[in-house]
Amino acid sequence: MNDKQVKQFQQKLLTWYDKHRRVMPWRALEGHNADPYHVWLSEIMLQQTTIATVKGYFDVFVSTWPTVKDLAAAEEDAILAKWSGLGYYSRARNLHKAARVIVNDFNGRIPDNYDDLLSLPGVGDYTASAVTAIAFNKQATVLDGNVERVVSRIFEIQEKLPKGKKYYREKAVLLSVGDHNRYGDMAQATMDLGSTLCAPKNPKCGQCPVADMCGAKASNTQEEYPKKEKKKAIPKKYAHAYVMVNEKGQFFMRKRGDKGMLAGMYEIPTSEWLLKKKDIQDTEFTDIEFTLLKGNVKHVFSHFEFYINVYMAPVKHDSVCKCVWVDMDNLEAYGVPTVMKKIIYHALKKSA
Ligand code: ADE
Repeated sequence: MNDKQVKQFQQKLLTWYDKHRRVMPWRALEGHNADPYHVWLSEIMLQQTTIATVKGYFDVFVSTWPTVKDLAAAEEDAILAKWSGLGYYSRARNLHKAARVIVNDFNGRIPDNYDDLLSLPGVGDYTASAVTAIAFNKQATVLDGNVERVVSRIFEIQEKLPKGKKYYREKAVLLSVGDHNRYGDMAQATMDLGSTLCAPKNPKCGQCPVADMCGAKASNTQEEYPKKEKKKAIPKKYAHAYVMVNEKGQFFMRKRGDKGMLAGMYEIPTSEWLLKKKDIQDTEFTDIEFTLLKGNVKHVFSHFEFYINVYMAPVKHDSVCKCVWVDMDNLEAYGVPTVMKKIIYHALKKSA
């Protein structure tokens, strides 16, 4: 593509965006500047998560913590509780750490350049680029899954993802850099195009503003892009969960350690999580008599499938330890990950 064609591509895409831009709670209206706090918060939430899911969480966060200073002053547990259900909980802990860095080192203002943004906990290339472009309208190119699909089709890229990512980036930069002075809109227009028209299956090329510049459209090979390396099958892991309920119907829960998966979240105690079911040993609560409940709980994490056998026992309030006893109707006050909620609901259902 020569300079003139790139310019044409950008003009067509931006004209389309002016007409079809999606309304999102963190997005500025046409001609207005976006609030950098909203952009940063939403982009952290949108990592690995759909827009539909993020909307509700975003509204709760900005009404609970209207500024980055409020977020920095919050307790980590309160943030984890409101993040509960969004997954990838290290994002929430990093968000909190980053808020404190922003207050302490950046005077409470979201940094307005790529390098400073990249220095924040939880901010990688994608988020630093997105905030630079969307919040500050400075030159930066975002490359998420939607953008990868768009550029792969335009240029019929044969390199496979994720190995060939650098090449995708070069092409995305080529398409986004110019004298349009609309880097925020360029970034969001490309992402919107990817998620609304340039879909993985059945792309709506008839409505696409740049269909006439698309190599894959010309050769009718759209769905072959982007080319991807074969994914390895994800392993299965197994565990026992020990659900203990006291005479008031409260569940015994405890806070997980500071490192590793679901760090800082509240859990129903479990055995080790192992690749072989038969290697599981019950080493805790050995003096309590549990009943194995029928069925099991399945939860899919990004890198393994998790199968849990649920054991249940009635216990006395103070017989286990001084940890937390959680009322079912107060579950939302704690940072409880979805897998643990599934275990609790399973226990309630099977023991009813
Ligand atoms: N996906 C992630 N961030 C987005 C944004 N700002 N606009 C559209 N899609 C997105």
